[in-house]
Amino acid sequence: MKKMTILDGKKIASDIENEISLEVQQLLSRGGRAPHLAAILVGDDGPSLTYVDNKVKACKRVGFESTLMKFSSTMAEEKLLKEIVRFNEDEDIDGFIVQLPLPAHISEEKVIETIAPEKDVDGFTNQNYGRIISPHHGLLPATPYGVMELLRRYKIPTKGKHAVVVGHSRVVGAPMGLLLAHEGQATVTQCHIDTHDLGYFTRQADILCVAVGKPNLITADMVKEGVVVVDVGINRVEDATKKRGYRLAGDVNFDEVAKKASFITPVPGGVGPMTIASLLLNTLHASKVRTEGNNKL
Ligand code: GUN
Repeated sequence: MKKMTILDGKKIASDIENEISLEVQQLLSRGGRAPHLAAILVGDDGPSLTYVDNKVKACKRVGFESTLMKFSSTMAEEKLLKEIVRFNEDEDIDGFIVQLPLPAHISEEKVIETIAPEKDVDGFTNQNYGRIISPHHGLLPATPYGVMELLRRYKIPTKGKHAVVVGHSRVVGAPMGLLLAHEGQATVTQCHIDTHDLGYFTRQADILCVAVGKPNLITADMVKEGVVVVDVGINRVEDATKKRGYRLAGDVNFDEVAKKASFITPVPGGVGPMTIASLLLNTLHASKVRTEGNNKL
């Protein structure tokens, strides 16, 4: 029987955290200070609370300082922009994130563009986005960066391969395609949730990355034998057998697709932990650039 390997994001993220912890210890032993990541959370969206909590916990594990600022969902846009400027200017903070989504009355675009690119550890600003295709890239978007790192650490070649990305979001799909094409030197097809005859494209994929937020979108008939599957979706699916009433599922029908795949990420435990690891890597990088001035972002 052919071999299928689970892309264990939890394990790789834990390896990366160990590497970062060592670097932090070295920084401290040289008289430096611990990198500091701050997070802004507006409102009380359940999944966002969990994600931000996980980010703060990860900071503690690697010895980073962390700050979490929580604001009410009725917060005025102007007040949020002022807080961001304050974080931009705070010498103590190396990087920060504003957790998305934001309440509807706040412009995501304005918020992102107010973040100083050198502290934008999510890699969401237009400057960092544009620099994905520069040889001297800035802070890479955390989720696509995590996916590339996962492929690298499993020694999965991307050069010359056909990578199909389903999803075109600013946060994942669009930068994922750019990174695969430029850093990965793959041939990239960028699909959309509304792409006509999606299976026609996904069946051609050597590497299939799915990031649309629709459970069971990708079924076994939509992939070829030996495909590498990266499932970025994290969906809450009703499940009466669970105490909390739901379970987490990706965008790929895992049980079916895993039978044809050579590598596949689980949900949870695949891409999610890698996003957090990338956020930590970006924060470490931002902190080194600020304190050592070794490489201008
Ligand atoms: N919402 C969902 N994913 C992310 C992320 O990676 N960063 C931020 N800031 N918000 C998110």
